[in-house]
Amino acid sequence: MAEEVRVPDVTSMGTLGPAGGRKSSQDDIRCCKGEEELLNLEDEVFNPNMTSFKHENVEDLYELLEKLGSGHFGEVKRCREKSSGTFYAGKFIKTRKCKGSRLGLDREQVEREVFILQQLEHPNIMKLHDVFASRAEMVLILELIRGGELFDFIAEKEALSEEEAIEFLEQILRGVAYMHSRHIAHFDLKPENIMLLEKDTPHHKVKIIDFGLAQKIEDGAVFKSLCGTPQYIAPEVINYEPLGSPTDMW
Ligand SMILES: Nc1ncnc2c1ncn2[C@@H]1O[C@H](COP(=O)(O)OP(=O)(O)O)[C@@H](O)[C@H]1O
Ligand SMILES: [Mg+2]
Repeated sequence: MAEEVRVPDVTSMGTLGPAGGRKSSQDDIRCCKGEEELLNLEDEVFNPNMTSFKHENVEDLYELLEKLGSGHFGEVKRCREKSSGTFYAGKFIKTRKCKGSRLGLDREQVEREVFILQQLEHPNIMKLHDVFASRAEMVLILELIRGGELFDFIAEKEALSEEEAIEFLEQILRGVAYMHSRHIAHFDLKPENIMLLEKDTPHHKVKIIDFGLAQKIEDGAVFKSLCGTPQYIAPEVINYEPLGSPTDMW
């Protein structure tokens, strides 16, 4: 596994791109604004854009099961909704308690991930089911995708057949075309962020996950960032030039 390298997002002074290589590590170097500012949870409760955030304990409503994955934010665990018995993937994201803190993601970054997922409804894009927010953590309850990452699937097989490659690419491009039609760019498309619905099936269905770096690209607005995964990063990111949907096609 390649060692992870993180690239700070200079546009938000505190957000970070996911790592290079495969998985994120916990000990990132973070850029922070100096001053410490305490969070005002009341502001979040009454934020009109975030009405769907629940403030109770996630474990009151979901049974937490085994770990499915981990990243720079925390962990993804399988979980079971107590009321329906349905299984989901819970993405547990540690958030910064104060602006100067080195630990955790900015809450705005997670809110953006939620806001973007709420706008997407497509068979090749993972769905968001529920969101919880507490002072130190946010939990995204996501559609459970059971077949593992495309990265592991390719690594195990060493090579895909042409038919398989076409099957995967067609679905990925459908998902990407849909999000681009909604003016959303993912900015971290890679085999680790594409998952198989089921592993052992003749025709694979795939879904795009991880909207942690995704952005709504507003018409006429210039968006620049140094976020991404070094092995897959587009030249315009390195050159700190305006980014948009073409950046996803690199
Ligand atoms: N909906 C899901 N179903 C199953 N596993 C998931 C799901 N979402 C994420 N994972 C697993 O957790 C890993 C980390 O989640 P991801 O959202 O990609 O976070 P990061 O921003 O750290 O890359 C994924 O690579 C995948 O293995
Ligand atoms: Mg990821």
